[in-house]
This record gives sequence, structure tokens and C-alpha cells, in this order.
Amino acid sequence: MNITDSIKYVGVNDHGIDLFEGQYIVPNGMAYNSYLIEDEKIAVMDSVDAAFGNAWLDNIEKALKGKKPDYLIVQHMEPDHSANITTFADTYPDAVIVSSDKAFKMMQNFFGTDFADRRIVVGDGDTLSLGGRELTFVTAPMVHWPEVIVTYDGTDKVLFSADAFGKFGALDVDEDWACEARRYYMGIVGKYGMQVQTLFKKTKDLDINIICPLHGPVLSDDLGYYISLYNAWSSYEPEEKGITIAYTSVYGNTKKAVEYLAEKLEKAGAKVALSDLARSDMAEVVEDAFRYDRLVLATTTYNADIFPFMKEFINHLTERNFQNRTVALIENGSWAPTAAKVMRGMLEGSKNLTFTENTVKIMSAVNDQTKAQLDALAAEILGNTTDSDGGEN
Ligand code: FEO
Repeated sequence: MNITDSIKYVGVNDHGIDLFEGQYIVPNGMAYNSYLIEDEKIAVMDSVDAAFGNAWLDNIEKALKGKKPDYLIVQHMEPDHSANITTFADTYPDAVIVSSDKAFKMMQNFFGTDFADRRIVVGDGDTLSLGGRELTFVTAPMVHWPEVIVTYDGTDKVLFSADAFGKFGALDVDEDWACEARRYYMGIVGKYGMQVQTLFKKTKDLDINIICPLHGPVLSDDLGYYISLYNAWSSYEPEEKGITIAYTSVYGNTKKAVEYLAEKLEKAGAKVALSDLARSDMAEVVEDAFRYDRLVLATTTYNADIFPFMKEFINHLTERNFQNRTVALIENGSWAPTAAKVMRGMLEGSKNLTFTENTVKIMSAVNDQTKAQLDALAAEILGNTTDSDGGEN
């Protein structure tokens, strides 16, 4: 596949993977992207996952048409991209490895060599000439490991963006970009919003026509759309108005309460994402919590704490710097409900959260009193938003 006359795609699709990075389900597989830039000199951008070394080398060989690569540029050392560096180095013994100082230290740890006799160490603003064109490197620490660099080709106006702008899903599956890019971003890069914002600042003056990430499709049309979503995600601003309701329910009573609430909110015209944390992909619910501006958490008191799935969910949020949202709490407990207090305590360190005045207390089962509390909560959640009335936020 040609990206431009000089840049070819040489990556691979993985449909055999069970869990990406050991935890994320990827129903449509995964792509490990790699690119070949052919000028007077030839550079290959990153390697691929361990299971695909032969397929990747075959792709490179076909693209080279008998030529030899001069450089392997390593932007990121996570094994989904670095596992075949030594395979490449052995196959092309004259090629030079180009990467950051931190990455070479990681190569020593991963492979027992830092390629001291055949390497170029690059940092912020350094360039590499391929003859007719020059590549410029920009460091992108913690997007999403500390050694990461991104690379700009000013001739074709291409940004090789490492994990940034990546998504779950193989490239031979047609699916919505934002859905799986958002789940990927929130799951994998979400903690490092500030570092993504720093990368935006460092690259803002580059004239970019094409973004080539390490996962997901090459982006070339309407780049403003992708950049504005990334900007919202990395600044922790809600992407749109809506209400995520995340709950656990042991015997169905808390479920009845949140279903009652969800129906009320939906009838009023609000967008609602309702998820049972014990039966959902947790990464999808994390994605929803960051996507929308309001979050309702409903759970039971359990072992003088809260139900384990809710505890895990809140930990996922706080470790990703969840902030700038309105939060409502619903607790259930048959003799001493304390779940709301525990949930609030877990969110104490989160910045700029507004808790609703109404907190719903269910004593075992939903009754008329509970419904009245849920009605009041629904009214407060909808109170001053544009969900239903077109009023101002
Ligand atoms: Fe796709 Fe951070 O590796």
C-alpha cells in the first residue's frame, strides 16, 4: 500500500490476539504499523509484534525490490513495535538503528545490545537526511513510554506519530474510528494527557497532511476532526453532553434503580450509557465516563467497602486523572449503607469534580421513597443542561 509516492505501508494485521497489552479485548484484532520511506536512502519506521517478524520482513523485502534499507528508525520500545529490531538488524547487517538515548538503554535491557557500533542517537529537533528529504525528530516522553520520539517528513508533510492517533482494530476491518480510538486512548494513553498536550505544542507549527500512527489507519482527510478529538481527550474535557451510569447489582435491586433513572433521563432527551460493570468491558465504560460530562455511580455496600467491580472501575478512573465532570452517587445497603461515602472518598483527589446534592440511598429494594429520590436526582442531573430544553449549560 502506498501512502505517498515515497512512503509504503509494510505493517501487519493481527487477528489471533486475545488481549492487547495483556488486558484489552480487541474483537477486530490489531494492526502493528510499519512504514518504509524510500529516497536516496531508505528508512524503515519501527518493527512489529514478535509473532509477525517473518510477515513484516516479507513486506519490507517486497517493497524494497532488491534494494537494502539504510536505517531502522525506532520510535517506541514497547514490544508490539520493538520485538523484531534484532531480527531486522540481523537480516540487514549494514543498516543503522536510529532512536533516542532512552530507547537504546531499553534495547540493552530487552536484547542485551544497544547497537553501539551501528546507531544514531537522536533528540528533540535532530534531523536525518535521506538525500532528497530530511526527517525531523521530536521527543514525546510518556506518549506513552518515556523513550518515544515522533518523526516529521517535511517533503511529504507526514507526521509519524508513534502510539498517538492509534486505535484498536486491524486495518482490514471497516469500523468507526472514534469509538475504538477513544477506547484505546483512554485505556492506554489516558493518564498522560498533559504529555499529549505538550506534544501538540511542540508540533503545532508543522505543516501536516498525513498522520501515520503505529496502530490503526493512516489519517489524511479532515485531520482537524481527529486533532480536535485528541485535544478534548488529552485536556480531560468532556467530548459531548451525556450521562454514563455505571453500576453493580448483586440481586437486581440496584439495577432496577438505575434502569428507572436511565429511563427518566432518556425520556427527557438525554444521551445515556448504562453499564453493568460486572458484565461489561471495563475499558468501554471507562471510555464512556471520559466521553460524557456526567457520571452516575451505583453500587452496594460490601465487606464494609464497595462491590469489587465498582472499586476497580473507580481506580481505573482516578489513575487516568478523571476530572472536570459532575458525579452522582447511588448506594444500596440492607443494614448499614456506606457505599456513597466510600466512592466519594475514592474520588477525593480528583480535580474539579462536582457532586450532585442528591445522593440516593436504597435500603435493599426500590420503593416509592427510592423513586422519589431518583426523581429528584434526575431533575438535578438534567437541571441546567441543554439535554432537553436547549437552555445553556
Ligand atoms: Fe503500541 Fe505503546 O505500544
